[in-house]
Amino acid sequence: MRNSPSTLRARDSEAQGVTVLRVPSTPLGVSREEQQASGLLRNAIGVKPLWILSGTIMIYLHAILVLSILGGLLSVLLLIATRYLAYYGPCTIKINEEKPFEIEGGCKLLDALYDRKIFIPSACGGQGTCGFCKVKVLEGGGPVLPTELPYLTKEEISAQARLACQVKVKQDLDVHVRPDYLNIKEFTAKVTSVRMVTHDTREIIIKLIEPDKIEFKPGQYVQVNVPGTKETTFRAYSISSPPEKKNEIELLIRLIPGGLGSTYLHNVKVDEEMNLTGPYGEFVMDKESELICVGGGCGLAPMRSIIRHAKKISPKREAWLFFGARTDDDVMYIDEFKKLQKEMPGLHIHYALSEPKKSSDWKGETGFIHESVDKHISKKDKDAKRQIFLCGPPLMIKAVRKVLKEKGVPRKKIFFDEF
Ligand SMILES: Cc1cc2nc3c(=O)[nH]c(=O)nc-3n(C[C@H](O)[C@H](O)[C@H](O)COP(=O)(O)OP(=O)(O)OC[C@H]3O[C@@H](n4cnc5c(N)ncnc54)[C@H](O)[C@@H]3O)c2cc1C
Ligand code: FES
Repeated sequence: MRNSPSTLRARDSEAQGVTVLRVPSTPLGVSREEQQASGLLRNAIGVKPLWILSGTIMIYLHAILVLSILGGLLSVLLLIATRYLAYYGPCTIKINEEKPFEIEGGCKLLDALYDRKIFIPSACGGQGTCGFCKVKVLEGGGPVLPTELPYLTKEEISAQARLACQVKVKQDLDVHVRPDYLNIKEFTAKVTSVRMVTHDTREIIIKLIEPDKIEFKPGQYVQVNVPGTKETTFRAYSISSPPEKKNEIELLIRLIPGGLGSTYLHNVKVDEEMNLTGPYGEFVMDKESELICVGGGCGLAPMRSIIRHAKKISPKREAWLFFGARTDDDVMYIDEFKKLQKEMPGLHIHYALSEPKKSSDWKGETGFIHESVDKHISKKDKDAKRQIFLCGPPLMIKAVRKVLKEKGVPRKKIFFDEF
């Protein structure tokens, strides 16, 4: 068979591993053999004629055009709907019987309070998943939403409690917030030190600038403002330094892959400024009770604050520190606590790994941390002077609480934060 020049070019190109788009040759002046040869070659190298390709591309382009126009129309409709249908006009909010203030309706109550510098605990950043942002809405809040129900007890609903992040301001509101929330402040601060304490956990030390001092109780937390997001975004982080240090706070941040807050805090650099609010939280520590502190992962952060404060105010007291982690790589601050133990002889330290490495030279305990609590904490009368602080994943908290119940510890003596 005779090779036409175009077929030869195609073969040459094929030999060089190049795919060639070819315009079908006009039948005029081309022999049947040449047409067959060129067709066979096209099939062989999987190339479609350009007119078929351009037809397909045109269909796609038209589809994209139609979809874009539809999308544009929908956005305009949505804007009109938001502007005119969901327009609530100016609304007033009365807080704790004070003089009402006016805001533009349509926003979340949580955001309206934030703009007014009233900071409500909102650990999930207003996503309706932590249940922390409870306030009483005495008038104007509308019915309780299904998203709020998992976080409100029947008693709370009867007492008009609502989740501030779920209530939209659509009319004048009469709100009651806990008076201690009115003491929560907003701070600007500067990062003074960062270091990794495990493969995924970073210690950050922050110096407060304005105001330059914070009054907090050991076990409390702050909410860090995560910049670069459209809405105001916060994440909660326990203070790991003792309250004696008023001008700076230490935080421990575990990196959650893809997480907004933890990624921001793992990238923040020394001298960078940041914003936070606080202090938040219910932990209240007395001066003489036996302390039982149980932390899982970054749940060790508030325990560092509690134990360091206990050493300062009552170094002779009996205290138990339990730390649960998965592997040897997750162990942190063990040397710091051992050093502290020299000045606080009543401190018992128990670190337990649930999955120690096979090659490990780990000499501490193994298993889940609630098993260690079970082993070391004795059963006592319910009136025994004990205070219990738990912080870590919900499953750990649940297991430890069950053990403590068996040890006769009443519920009211247990403070806990799940995360
Ligand atoms: C009172 C309180 C104190 C806290 N203290 C600390 C602390 O001291 N140190 C600390 O590191 N964290 C602490 N947290 C958790 C912290 O507030 C954030 O929830 C956490 O850093 C994840 O936020 P993110 O913005 O990085 O992830 P997000 O952007 O919120 O989440 C990204 C994705 O990760 C998932 N995710 C979120 N958290 C976890 C998790 N723990 N494990 C696996 N997947 C997760 C989410 O479901 C989501 O799919 C505390 C939480 C509370 C309520
Ligand atoms: S802020 Fe978390 S539920 Fe409202």
